Amino acid sequence: MTELEKNIHTKAFKELTEEVSKRIGVDYSTYSKKHLRRRFHARMRVTGQRTFSSYLSYLRDSDEEIEKLKKLLTVNVTKFKRDEEVWDILREDVIPTLIEGKKDDIFKRLKFWSAGCATGEEPYSLAISFLESSMLENFDCNILATDIDKEALSFARRGVYPPKALKNVTEHEKKVYFEKRDGEWAVTDKIKELVEFRHIDILKNDFEKNFDLISCRNLMIYFNTEAKSNLTERLVGSLREGGFLILGMSETLRFPARDKMEKYHLRRRVFRKKKGIDYRV
Ligand SMILES: C[S@@+](CC[C@H](N)C(=O)[O-])C[C@H]1O[C@@H](n2cnc3c(N)ncnc32)[C@H](O)[C@@H]1O
Repeated sequence: MTELEKNIHTKAFKELTEEVSKRIGVDYSTYSKKHLRRRFHARMRVTGQRTFSSYLSYLRDSDEEIEKLKKLLTVNVTKFKRDEEVWDILREDVIPTLIEGKKDDIFKRLKFWSAGCATGEEPYSLAISFLESSMLENFDCNILATDIDKEALSFARRGVYPPKALKNVTEHEKKVYFEKRDGEWAVTDKIKELVEFRHIDILKNDFEKNFDLISCRNLMIYFNTEAKSNLTERLVGSLREGGFLILGMSETLRFPARDKMEKYHLRRRVFRKKKGIDYRV
C-alpha cells in the first residue's frame, strides 16, 4: 500500500478530529495530535484509506467504524498496583504521613481521588493500601474514582477481575481483600464501600477540593501541551496543602503547577503540595 498521509497541520486532519469529537462526544482537539494520528493511521490501514479526507468520508458513512475507532482511542490498560514501587512508597510512607498529619483532627478521614480510573484497579489498589497502612488507626477513607469511559466504569463497579490483573497483588492481600469466583477475583464489599465511581470528563467538569491525595496516572500522556499544563494546575488547586499528587512514570509536572509542588519522590512521580503559597487558580 502507498504511504499514508502524515501532515497533522492540515484542514483535513482538523475536520477529521472535529467529526470524531462530535460523534464520540469527547473533545479531541485537546488531545495530542501525534496520538490521534497513530490511531487514525491504524484504522486507515485496515480500511484501505490513504488520506485523512478519504478516511473522513468513509467514517461519515459508518457507525461501525466510529465504534472501532473509539475503542482504539480509549486506552484503558491498567492493573492492580501498576508500577509496584509507587505502591510501596504509598503504603510505607505517603499514607502513614497523611495519617500522622491528621491524627489530632476531630474527623479522622482521608480523601483520595483516582482521576482516570479506567476499569477500577487503581482506586481499589488505593483502598487496599489505605487499609494496610491504617490497620492500627481509627481512620476513615473516601476514594473518588472517575473516568470519561462509561463502559469502563460499569466494569469497575462490578469489581471482578481475571487473574492477570492481580499480578502485583500479594497472597496476603488476595486472601484478605478478594473472593475467588469461577476462576476470577472479586473485590470484597469492605473495599468496594470505600470507593465511589463517577463519570467525569477531566478536561471539562469542575473538580472537588481538599483532596489529601490525587492519583492521575497515564492519562495526561494523551493530551496536548496546553491541556497538560491546565490540568496539572487544576489538580494542584484541588489538593489541600501538604496533599500528594501521583503521576504516571512518563508524565511530569509543568509550569505553573511545578513551582507549587515539592518533588517528594521524583523517580516515582510522587509530588507534595507546598505550604504557604497563594494557590488561587
Ligand atoms: C491508560 S488508562 C489509566 C488507568 C490508571 N490510571 C492507570 O494508570 O493504570 C487512561 C484512562 O483515562 C481515561 N480518560 C481519557 N480521557 C479522559 C478525560 N478527558 N476525562 C476523564 N478520563 C479520561 C480513559 O478513559 C482511560 O480509562
